[in-house]
Amino acid sequence: MNRGFDQKRSAPTASGQQQTLIMRPLSELMRETVAKLTGVLGKHALPHTERIFEHLLCCSHTDLYLDGHRNVDSVLTDRLDAIVCRCLDCEPLDYILGTTYFFDREFIVAPVVLVPRPDTERLVEQVLCHEKARQLCFADIGTGSGIIACILTEQRPQWNGVGIDVSPRALSVARRNVRSEGIGLVCSDLFRAFRALRRFDFIVGNPPYIKSGDIGGLDESIHRFEPLIALDGGNDGLAFFRRLAREAPAHLKAGGSLYCEIGYDQEDAVRSIFSAPPWDRFRCFRDLAGNPRVIIVCNRG
Ligand SMILES: C[S@@+](CC[C@H](N)C(=O)[O-])C[C@H]1O[C@@H](n2cnc3c(N)ncnc32)[C@H](O)[C@@H]1O
Repeated sequence: MNRGFDQKRSAPTASGQQQTLIMRPLSELMRETVAKLTGVLGKHALPHTERIFEHLLCCSHTDLYLDGHRNVDSVLTDRLDAIVCRCLDCEPLDYILGTTYFFDREFIVAPVVLVPRPDTERLVEQVLCHEKARQLCFADIGTGSGIIACILTEQRPQWNGVGIDVSPRALSVARRNVRSEGIGLVCSDLFRAFRALRRFDFIVGNPPYIKSGDIGGLDESIHRFEPLIALDGGNDGLAFFRRLAREAPAHLKAGGSLYCEIGYDQEDAVRSIFSAPPWDRFRCFRDLAGNPRVIIVCNRG
């Protein structure tokens, strides 16, 4: 790997003159970066530093350590300083680098979409575990960067999905992430654009579920940088579940399931929202820490 490990000790300036580049050993720069980031990021400082250097040097994790003795030039350290500065201002690294990983797949992200969370992988796993039909059509409600629809159609190439979001800017990010032909993207306030009563085999979604009043108390990296529309679930955080309970049955086949991520303390409230017909067979699944995070409920029809 040569990129970033420029062995030249001089580089041409705008005037054509040679300027001496200051070379620094990679391992020393990495140690220094971890130290700078620890105050803000704590135990995440090392993994963040590794991602930053992998990005800057276009190299693998292993290369970082195999080539730790190599020198890095000051062009690269200027870029490093700019990134570190934004990290110290609490901006999420995924927005700074413009990408993130979900299900081991790289996705483009931008401040107009929520940064995908590992918790949402549990939601996708439940869908893959319960939906056995070879061919079916689903809706991913509040698709954001498109992670859920993308992974489902990539894991099940025979499935077709519609990613729905009220934010055109979020959909423009989702569009850049779509690799499969089986995904359509629709700008709509929940199902409003689907007047023809189109019915899906299942509906999946990670709706905004934070109480409006709690948002200001979240980490600075969340409330200052992530889109409010992706977080705000109304006064009690449950507004979208109430709307889904009312509006989803018209768009879900009889016997079809609705899969949703919920907040760790919302199980009872969400269960009660889906307690009336046509909803049936409410189930809740926990994450590894034992918190209820995914619900499945069936449309009895
Ligand atoms: C919590 S984010 C989830 C994004 C993505 N699915 C994920 O899991 O990372 C919620 C998404 O719902 C979208 N949204 C908010 N209100 C909506 C509405 N009324 N109709 C459709 N989408 C909405 C937001 O724009 C945001 O992209």
